[in-house]
Amino acid sequence: MKSNKALVLKITFLILILFKSVGADQKYIFTTDWVTANSENWLKHLSQFKGKPNIHGLEIGTWEGRSAIWFLENILTHPSATITCVDTFYWGEGTEDRFDKNIRASGLAQKVKKIKGQSQFVLVTLERSHYDFVYIDGCHRAACVLTDVILSFYLTKPGGLIILDDYLYQPDRKPIETPKIAIDAFLVIFKPYIEILDKKYQVIIKKKDLGLKEDININP
Ligand SMILES: C[S@@+](CC[C@H](N)C(=O)[O-])C[C@H]1O[C@@H](n2cnc3c(N)ncnc32)[C@H](O)[C@@H]1O
Repeated sequence: MKSNKALVLKITFLILILFKSVGADQKYIFTTDWVTANSENWLKHLSQFKGKPNIHGLEIGTWEGRSAIWFLENILTHPSATITCVDTFYWGEGTEDRFDKNIRASGLAQKVKKIKGQSQFVLVTLERSHYDFVYIDGCHRAACVLTDVILSFYLTKPGGLIILDDYLYQPDRKPIETPKIAIDAFLVIFKPYIEILDKKYQVIIKKKDLGLKEDININP
């Protein structure tokens, strides 16, 4: 009798633990985690913006919103901080729906501007020198990455950061179609205007504050 009671108690306890852990995960619907491995390094570079007013992030390639929510919960914590999320929502079944639900579940939807479309065409419509940081994690073909990083450079505030994901990503494609060749070209051509803060699987650059009226002087 006594052992039966102990068993019931044990099972109840296990059910409670299980319920609690599932409950905690149920806040969001994520099918991938491309965030946890980067979060320590993001904190190192982005903590300077944490809790400050009027900080604006831009994310190219937002998927289910996992990285956007990480930025909102860890960096864009001031009520006036915002994130603009650009995605085609073309890739994967139900991605846009999961993004919308996750952003709603975060309770921070009022800080999120979602723009549906191809980054190459969306970025040219955004405000110049407006963003404190840009996270580039959209289309991984070289032509897209090169376009995204050049357009992002002009959208970033002087002193702001650009984080490029998948620098060392080696898909089963010709090297000309990978992010690396595009990022390397950008790093060479924009060398006078940027500082490289990190160059591992992700590349993190800072747009130098050269005190110029224009981002780059127009020269013959
Ligand atoms: C790797 S996922 C982004 C993951 C997300 N940043 C995260 O960490 O959870 C890449 C996303 O880029 C989007 N994408 C691909 N090409 C794009 C383009 N040309 N413009 C905008 N988004 C694009 C895809 O729809 C996909 O959602």
